[in-house]
Amino acid sequence: MPPAATATAGDVDTLFHFILGISAAFFLLIVGLMVLFVFRYHRGRAARPAPSSSHNTALELTWTIIPLILVVVIFGWGVRVFLDINTVPADAYEVQVTGQKWKWFFTYPNGHVDENLHVPVHRPVRLVMTSEDVIHSFFVPAFRIKRDVLPGRYTKLWFEATRSGEFQVFCAEYCGAGHSDMLAQVIVHEPGGFEKWLEQEANVLAKLPPAEAGARLYKMRGCAQCHSVDGKAGIGPTFLGLVGEPVPLQTGGPVSADENYIRESILEPQAKLVAGFQPVMPTYKGRLKDQEITAIISYLKTLQKAH
Ligand code: CUA
Repeated sequence: MPPAATATAGDVDTLFHFILGISAAFFLLIVGLMVLFVFRYHRGRAARPAPSSSHNTALELTWTIIPLILVVVIFGWGVRVFLDINTVPADAYEVQVTGQKWKWFFTYPNGHVDENLHVPVHRPVRLVMTSEDVIHSFFVPAFRIKRDVLPGRYTKLWFEATRSGEFQVFCAEYCGAGHSDMLAQVIVHEPGGFEKWLEQEANVLAKLPPAEAGARLYKMRGCAQCHSVDGKAGIGPTFLGLVGEPVPLQTGGPVSADENYIRESILEPQAKLVAGFQPVMPTYKGRLKDQEITAIISYLKTLQKAH
């Protein structure tokens, strides 16, 4: 595990090492005695103890009471850490997390959507998580937090980063071909840096020319996970040379890939399926603004095949 980067992660580690230490001590004690007895009292050895007729009350009380105290301590300590991890402070900053094959999206209160989780240092952050498709699991090893992300319901997590830096996010639930690529970073900003970043990001798309904004959206909103821009077929058809070309549909007859077709395919991916591909794309209805769809179409127009 990477060094703990939240206060609760430190508590988890301390408890873990306590349990590990006790387990190791008992392992050595029990296995050590076992080996010792095997050598001392094995069959054919002269020194054999006379069978004891009565039990040893002091010994039995010792091996009952000491483990009892230990497990009660572990239970009480575990409950305390569990409650700390699961009780979200009331003033926590909220970020929405969406899992989708095979990418994470982080939505901020101002509407900005990012592919990485940016947070301020020393401030509790609450994550409200859901999935667009299958079960994923949000896992940040440095924070010692992991929770399933489910379609059709919300799960929550919280943390308070104690130092700035970048921390790896994994998906910890096997979710298909791209599971191991389902990565993101938690970027913990220095005091003041987070607000500056959010302010800047909120307007970045509006400031860019549409085709450049579209290129950014293509990468950040998960299009790149399935649609290549170099002509290779992926989970979905490539975007290279798509605009204006005839597209063969599963229901027959080609359709021209014009602006309306692309817009419809983003909002209702199953309406006009391209021949040879599975109906696996989730809808982007309500997740992309009209302006963003227009920017993506502008970007796709730039992806022409070399003649
Ligand atoms: Cu998402 Cu594994």
